Amino acid sequence: MARFSLTTPIYYVNAQPHLGHAYTTIVADALARWHRLSGDDVHLLTGTDEHGLKIQQAADAKGVSPLEFADSIAPLFAQAWDKLNIQYDDFIRTTEDRHKRGVAKLLQACYDAGDIELDTYSGLYCVACEAYFTEEEIDNGNCPIHKRPVEHVEEENYFFRLSRFEDRLLKWYADHPNSISPHFRMNEVTSFIKQGLRDFSVSRNSLKWGIPLPWDNSHVAYVWFDALANYITAVGYGTDDAAFEKNWPVSAHLIGKDIIRFHCVYWPAMLMSAGIEPPEHWAVGGWLLVGGEKMSKTAGNVVNPLDLIDEFGVDGFRYYVLSDTQYGNDGDFTYEGLVARYNNDLANNLGNLCSRVTTVVQKKCDGVSAAPRADSPLREHAESAVRDTIEGWNSFQPGKALDATWSLIRATNAFLENHEPWKAEPSAELNAIMGDALEALRIVAILCVPAIPATAQLVWERIGLTGDVSHERIPTSVSWGLYPAGLTVEKGEPLFPRKAK
Ligand code: MSP
Repeated sequence: MARFSLTTPIYYVNAQPHLGHAYTTIVADALARWHRLSGDDVHLLTGTDEHGLKIQQAADAKGVSPLEFADSIAPLFAQAWDKLNIQYDDFIRTTEDRHKRGVAKLLQACYDAGDIELDTYSGLYCVACEAYFTEEEIDNGNCPIHKRPVEHVEEENYFFRLSRFEDRLLKWYADHPNSISPHFRMNEVTSFIKQGLRDFSVSRNSLKWGIPLPWDNSHVAYVWFDALANYITAVGYGTDDAAFEKNWPVSAHLIGKDIIRFHCVYWPAMLMSAGIEPPEHWAVGGWLLVGGEKMSKTAGNVVNPLDLIDEFGVDGFRYYVLSDTQYGNDGDFTYEGLVARYNNDLANNLGNLCSRVTTVVQKKCDGVSAAPRADSPLREHAESAVRDTIEGWNSFQPGKALDATWSLIRATNAFLENHEPWKAEPSAELNAIMGDALEALRIVAILCVPAIPATAQLVWERIGLTGDVSHERIPTSVSWGLYPAGLTVEKGEPLFPRKAK
């Protein structure tokens, strides 16, 4: 069984989960479900990032300790993921003991390798990013991402000698040319490295809320050093060597484009320093914009995903997030766009197909299925939809995968419109037409599992199939002709009632 392990970024607990966090997490969950469906041994890791100045300040504003503050927010992420039907295998909090032990081990390994040294730093800092900027990078005294003033900071810090890793990183990327998707992000990373890398500070002595350096506990680890390490501490680094050996390197880190330098430059260099293999892949997503701006607490344009599930259902919301934006590009979240996707793709296409097929079988075929024909005109559509769906999910492109799945839904609707079985009298030919349509729906149900798992199960049961559809296997279960004759087909309520515009 092939192993497929996947991570989301760990989210800062200074804010409640919002649509931007949900976006990355839903993409990760859908990919994980796809790989489970493909028979892989899947591990999906998510969690929360709980140290650093940003969290300290948020706790101070509330008049509670940082840990109390983190304890009050971290469960909101776990609850949101449960509500969104995210099947994560592990949820790491950076305040956990397993994480602290692993971070100490990683720091010590880099220190022992001679890649961490004491120096004085003076520069411009954005607390929202928890990162330093150069004069050229800032915009009129403001952080280019958060548009808020950066602060002048001067302190004695331990530095990670990133500048020593330029050649090693470039060589590694040259040897692993497909390790970053979409491909243009690889060019961005390598040209950034080629411009010359600056050392970065890995400790703070003005701050208490963090993990102490093992050799100098007057400093705590810089929050990004601490946070990135979650990917290895969660799988046993520093606590369980055998588990770590088995589970590292990770198959893919899913990240937003805002954190690409940390993940694709700092992180592999930190790992190389400690003698650990870099990750196999980084899948970099764009931003979901609201009114043209990245959604963030700082920008004040936050959309709460849980409000949207009340209105569109978990699957309605998941489908929108996965299909409306091609992963890698920026997407624009609009309420109208959500309603339009829901009505077109879910109510009019999938919902309508399911309702037409089950209604005709009930009315004209005594509610009992016929087997599909081997030479059905739908067969070719099904085979190309399967091929392209596989290709889409395997290349971290949920939008493309869903387009391909929906091409089969559209072809089946067109096939029915062409034959108008609702007008025909019962006959062997009518049964055969409906057998073809039921088979297409069976294949669609399996292909929909990653995006809309609850609906996929519902369709599965409506067409008389039993068991858990997510236990089907790609590609064997989606070959044409497996739907059996003689099953009882049920009509049921509309899957996606239309929304008023
Ligand atoms: N804690 C760090 C990540 C450490 S990972 C070792 C962090 N946290 S965050 O909560 O601010 O955001 C994490 C990620 O959430 C972003 O990098 C991005 O992947 C995702 N998103 C947050 N807002 C987003 C949008 N508006 N749109 C798309 N993704 C967004 O950075």
